[in-house]
Amino acid sequence: MPGIAVIGLQWGDEAKGKIVDILTDQSDVVVRYQGGANAGHTVVFGGEQYKLSLIPSGIFRYDVQSVIAGGVVIDPEALFKEIDSLTARGVRIDKNLMISDRAHLIFPWHKIEDRILDNVNGHEAIGTTMRGIGPCYQDKVSRSLAIRVGDMFKSEFKYRIEYITGMKNRRFDGLVCNLDKSMHLEGLDAELDAKHIIDEYTVYAERMRPYVCDTTNYLLDAVDMDKRILFEGAQGSLLDIDHGTFPFVTSSNSSGVGISSGSGVPPQFIKKILGVVKAYSTRVGGGPFPTEQDNEIGKLIRTRGKEYGTVTKRPRRCGWFDAVAVRYAARLGGVDTISLMLLDVLSGFDILRICTSYNINGRVFDHFPSQTEDLRLAIPNYETLPGWEEDISNVQIYEDLPSNAKYYIQRISELVGKKVEIISVGPDREKTIYINS
Ligand code: IMP
Repeated sequence: MPGIAVIGLQWGDEAKGKIVDILTDQSDVVVRYQGGANAGHTVVFGGEQYKLSLIPSGIFRYDVQSVIAGGVVIDPEALFKEIDSLTARGVRIDKNLMISDRAHLIFPWHKIEDRILDNVNGHEAIGTTMRGIGPCYQDKVSRSLAIRVGDMFKSEFKYRIEYITGMKNRRFDGLVCNLDKSMHLEGLDAELDAKHIIDEYTVYAERMRPYVCDTTNYLLDAVDMDKRILFEGAQGSLLDIDHGTFPFVTSSNSSGVGISSGSGVPPQFIKKILGVVKAYSTRVGGGPFPTEQDNEIGKLIRTRGKEYGTVTKRPRRCGWFDAVAVRYAARLGGVDTISLMLLDVLSGFDILRICTSYNINGRVFDHFPSQTEDLRLAIPNYETLPGWEEDISNVQIYEDLPSNAKYYIQRISELVGKKVEIISVGPDREKTIYINS
């Protein structure tokens, strides 16, 4: 199986890191291809927990090549913080990490813009991670004010920073004086010092140099050599900039459609796509969420599932499994099979609900609406299923699951239209059930 991809089918935080970590054993190369330090992947093994943000989950196996491809936006401060914290815990990082010279760089101005722009959405904030992701992708697409990793080693690098700093400072002056004072921008210092940024990024450039190369070419060679490549998606399909719940999305193609554009590897090489879902739904930040349980049920899921953001520590909004949304994401991503995560969190509920369609303005919809306003009006139609009492966190084979848990899995598979291949009942690698039939 030469190319395998792991993508999230909800609003992110589906526990993709665990699946990637398991599959890394059978891979030669692991690639991060979109997003940036907004992602938070938790990997647990040997009783140790690691939180990754920019670095591919392959990093724990030295013989696996970890690649940060051109579609990623890189904040060097976050990158080196992560590298330093991993190396302090004994993880070896040198030639096993490659960074694309095509990847775009996040600068301090992007983080300031993130704070200012998240607040001018009028009625509801996007609730970004404030990592500068959207503003960096914005500069990438508009080109004139973008700086890529490869530019760090060119003679005009310092001049570019100086020039862009001047432009951004003038922009901030305009933006800040038009801001509504209620916009929670306390402590915002919207004045950039070019010299300080140049000094800081000159140090980053030298630290980054050994890792930087043309990763597209490397990956195309790896394809020719029949290497096993694992593509590690960040965020979830419903946060996709083109196909998600716009504007309450991230700024990259976080669904299956982004794998090729972000990595440079042609789609026909990717032979299998695993869609990762939680056994319920969560969302961080703003935007419509039809099956949200803003009540005791949601609180219980949050407590049991430890549903707090890896990056921002924000409490996640929790709700029932939405089969309409997941079916859409699975079709969009060309998903082959499903990995169903955190099933153990649902033990002890008398009943469970799965959303099978929406009622929007008196009409029944069994597809995911393209307009956020429609999704906001959607009233879920639920199928109610019996829960189970048993703690399932030590179950190792499918047949040993309570019959109601098996029925819940079966209904998810039927409603989403994909086979469930992996069930996760705890964070450790060992707490994984494989369904082979
Ligand atoms: P941004 O990616 O920081 O611009 O944030 C845009 C939206 O995507 C916000 O609602 C974030 O909470 C959400 N988001 C970004 N990254 C993640 C993630 O890794 N998991 C879950 N939500 C995310």
